[in-house]
Amino acid sequence: MGTGKKVTVVGAGFYGSTTAQRLAEYDIFDTVVLTDIVEGKPEGLALDMNQSRPIEGFETKVVGATTGPNGEGYEAIAGSDVVVVTAGLPRKPGMSRMDLLEVNAKIVRQVSENVARYAPDAVVIVVSNPLDEMTALAQKVTGFPYPRVMGQAGMLDTARFTNNVAEALAVPVATVQTLTLGSHGDTMVPVPSRCTVNGKPLADLLPADKVEELVERTRNGGAEVVALLKTGSAYYAPSAAAARMARAVIEDSGAVMPVCAWVDGQYGISGVYLGVEAEIGAAGVRRVVETALTGSERAALGEAAEAVRAKQADVADL
Ligand code: NAI
Ligand code: 2OP
Repeated sequence: MGTGKKVTVVGAGFYGSTTAQRLAEYDIFDTVVLTDIVEGKPEGLALDMNQSRPIEGFETKVVGATTGPNGEGYEAIAGSDVVVVTAGLPRKPGMSRMDLLEVNAKIVRQVSENVARYAPDAVVIVVSNPLDEMTALAQKVTGFPYPRVMGQAGMLDTARFTNNVAEALAVPVATVQTLTLGSHGDTMVPVPSRCTVNGKPLADLLPADKVEELVERTRNGGAEVVALLKTGSAYYAPSAAAARMARAVIEDSGAVMPVCAWVDGQYGISGVYLGVEAEIGAAGVRRVVETALTGSERAALGEAAEAVRAKQADVADL
């Protein structure tokens, strides 16, 4: 029997296609729609994914749709409960996420206009970079309520921090808890005071300089992958993060996750999209969850807020 649920992934590149496959394999949607502007690419990938259904044992149907500059093809996304926006260029070695601002703003604006028109009730999860700015732009262009537009970054950055700690201590990732807040950029705020291994504070297990090294590696997690790949950026861990967020929405789970959400008073910060922990449900962000931070972590979060606030204001006119 069908679940009646539908999710769309806009952009059938590396991030979008891996996200679509993960969402289909959950087998909790009737339909996963995958779109792109490159003719035939989303249809071809959808067919390939559907052919994996008998092997992986899922019934979700993947539908590919090519979209045009004037919204052609967007009828396919009608009725989506969630739309994940992955359309946009990835960075090249040596580029910062901010170098993508102008080109991706045009793409995200065009996509957001069509999402608002064809899927007006959807929860939107943005992943295109620079993430905090593109999330703010998507909210502005769709005109959706703030809780219905969020960005994916904190899940990924936190997973990277966890993996770095697990590798450094040679322990299973499941024993490690970490947290990363702030921006998905230079003002990322890994939170060492929230790191534990088997319930023990990280500070009791590693010297401060080693913890700082892991924090720095986390901040550079995306660039480290880009430098190795030489073309394109990470997509396995990023798609896992976006798919989990979409799942929390569809299941109305109340899961608390680090996401890019509209902050309105929490931590003394107001009026900006920023990486914070939030409870996720059917309507997107149910509430931002404040966590205890040290003085320096709180100050770093404040600095991140001011840095992204300035850029989010610029992007509104792009
Ligand atoms: P990619 O180059 O493999 O795919 C991008 C796709 O977007 C291409 O297939 C392209 O044809 C499509 N596209 C371009 N304009 C479009 C439009 N107007 N409508 C629909 N599709 C359009 O890039 P990849 O690796 O999939 O990355 C996508 C974005 O995600 C990049 O901006 C990248 O920086 C970002 N990213 C964000 C992360 C995060 O944690 N937030 C992590 C990793 C990547
Ligand atoms: C990442 O962090 C590039 O934002 C992308 O992998």
